[in-house]
Parts: sequence; C-alpha cells; structure tokens
Amino acid sequence: MKHRNLILISLVFIAIQACSPQKASNEDLTQRLSDQLNVLVQATDDSEKLPRSWTEKDGYKMIGIRDWCSGFPPGMYWYMYELSNDEQWKNTAIKTTEKLDGVQFYTGTHDLGFMVFCSYGNAYRLTGDEAYKEVILQGAESLASRFNPVTGAIRSWDWGKWQFPVIIDNMMNLEMLFWASKVSGDNRFRDIAVTHANTTLEHHFRDDMSSYHVVSYDTITGEVERKQTHQGYSDDSAWARGQSWGLYGYIVCYRETGDPKYLKAAEDIAAFIIPNLPEDLVPYWDYNDPKIPNVKRDASAGALLASAFYELGTMVEDGQRYFDLADQLLETLSSPEYLAEGGANGGFLLKHSVGHLPGNSEIDVPLNYADYYYLEAIKRKRELKK
Ligand code: GLY
Repeated sequence: MKHRNLILISLVFIAIQACSPQKASNEDLTQRLSDQLNVLVQATDDSEKLPRSWTEKDGYKMIGIRDWCSGFPPGMYWYMYELSNDEQWKNTAIKTTEKLDGVQFYTGTHDLGFMVFCSYGNAYRLTGDEAYKEVILQGAESLASRFNPVTGAIRSWDWGKWQFPVIIDNMMNLEMLFWASKVSGDNRFRDIAVTHANTTLEHHFRDDMSSYHVVSYDTITGEVERKQTHQGYSDDSAWARGQSWGLYGYIVCYRETGDPKYLKAAEDIAAFIIPNLPEDLVPYWDYNDPKIPNVKRDASAGALLASAFYELGTMVEDGQRYFDLADQLLETLSSPEYLAEGGANGGFLLKHSVGHLPGNSEIDVPLNYADYYYLEAIKRKRELKK
C-alpha cells in the first residue's frame, strides 16, 4: 500500500514537471545561481568591504563603500532573494545593504545612483522599510548637489583634466532622482534629471546615435569643452558598455516621463547597437576596435542590454524583436561560455567582462555589475512570462 502511494506521488510529480518544463528549468537555474552566489557570500561576507571582482591569481578585489560598485553586491543579493523567495537571501541582502551606512552623505561622485539605488532602492522596494526610504532621499540630495545649472548637467568626476566632465554612464543615476521626486513630492530632483537627460541627448551623441564617453563643459559659458574617451578604444569610438548605459538610461527616462523623444533616443541607440553585435550578441568591448573579431567581449555590456531590451520591448508595439534579442542574450550568458561552473569564478556568476581595457584593469574577469544586471534581466524575463 505504502509502495503504491509512493509510486502515485512520484507519477503526479513527474506529470507536474512535464506540464511546466519552463518552471522546472527556472527553478534549476535559480538553484544554480543561488549555490554559486553562496560561494561568493561565504568568501566575502565577514569583511566590511564588498566584492567587486576576482581573479585566480589575485583573489578578490574588495572595495569600500565609496567605490562606484559598492551598491551591486547588496543589489545582487536582493535580486537573488526576489528570484528564490528564500529568507536566507533576504538576511544576506539586509546585512550587506547595511554595510553601506553613511554612503548617502557622500557628495564626491555622480555614481550615487548605482551605490544607493541598487542597494537601498531594492531594499525599500522589497521590504517597504521606511528607514531605507530616508537613506535614498538623502542619496538623491547628495547627487543633486552635483548639478550645475550653467552646464545643465550633473558633474561626473572630481578628478582629471576636464573642467566639468559628464560621462554617458551618468544616465544611470537619474532613476534615483525620478524616484525621489515621486516619493518626496519635490519636483527639483525630476527637473534635474530631465535637464541632464536633455543636455546629454544634445551633446553626447553622434549622427549614428553612438555616443562619446566623456563630454566636458565650460563652467562659465556652459559650452562643450571637449568630447573624449576614458575607457573606450578612441575618442571617436563606441565603447560598448557606454552604449548600454545610454540605452538603459533613456529607457528609464521614457518610463518616468512618457516623453516620446526619450523613447526615440532609446530606439535609435538600439538601432546603432544591434547591427554591431556579434552572432552570439555579447558585445565586443568597443564596437570600433579595429581588431574585431579578435578582441575581448564584455559580458557586463551584454547583461545590461538584455535587461534594457526586456523593458524596451514593453514600450513599443513591435516589442517582440527586443524580447527575442533579450532571450537570446540570456541564453548565451547562461551557457558554459559565460556562466561560471559551480564554485569557480570566485562565486561570481558571469565570466568575461571588461572593466577598463586602456587602463589595463579588470580585463576578461567577473564584475559585480555584470552579475547584477544579469540577475535583473532574469527577473524581468520571468515577470514578462508569468
Ligand atoms: N561606470 C563605470 C564603468 O562603466 O566602468
């Protein structure tokens, strides 16, 4: 009798699995990602610092809270919690988020959107804890302090040879400002975000909608001082991650304002990127490196594209083509070529990202932001396919 019951239960289980192979494969992938990130947590959790990258030779690159990448580990763990619904991930995410205590008062960088919104932003979204809300609002204040009405932009860096450098990456910090206006009722944050987005649209893009990396402004006249690169192949090239930052940034601007010029910008940027992608869709580190195809890929730029395409697809009538690209990208990134084997890669998920190739730094390594946007893309895909 007992034996018969057991067979019956097994048959029902097999039937359920057969009816929803998607569910089963989602669960397999979630378990795999969770096991892998646990390796990262076990190796780095005790430190006050946060893991940014890893190599076989040098081990972990650990960073303090003022590093631009400090918000990604807590953000990754929040997404892992969301994907797995496992309280252990919530506890890890809370503990890691709280390592960033104090960062909201830092005014020395534009990267506060990454640092505060990927960590505390997800924490607030998933828990509703009011204490997190206050931190994000303060982070938005600190970011807004870097806005200059003469240049019409938020200053990116406080170092270097430029009068007022603004990098395309800075489009990613606007989401926190839009959020702050909605939550506080103070339109100042939104106005700054819109002005910055408009200034960037006017000066960062070439005719083909590829973008410069750095545009510097004259602080007296507000005119453009120089257009250059810092992390790309050349001043006139299209650094891959920069193109992904721009695409993602204008998608957010359209979501938050409904202004069709931002949707057009996003679609035009996508129209530059798509024909420049290799067959497996993971971008070369710079679309204009003359040694293509014999150059490094940047998985971080690919993960960003996947996440961005899932959202862009929801904004247009013929969105299926963006969903298809995002699906293909996720398939490639989840293949053995990019997704690390269990226990390898220091516990990071994706291999083969490029941080700063001309600076000879973080080339062909795991990077925490590649994993963050990869997890975000998986979450977006699952939300769309529910
Ligand atoms: N925001 C810096 C980078 O993308 O490398």
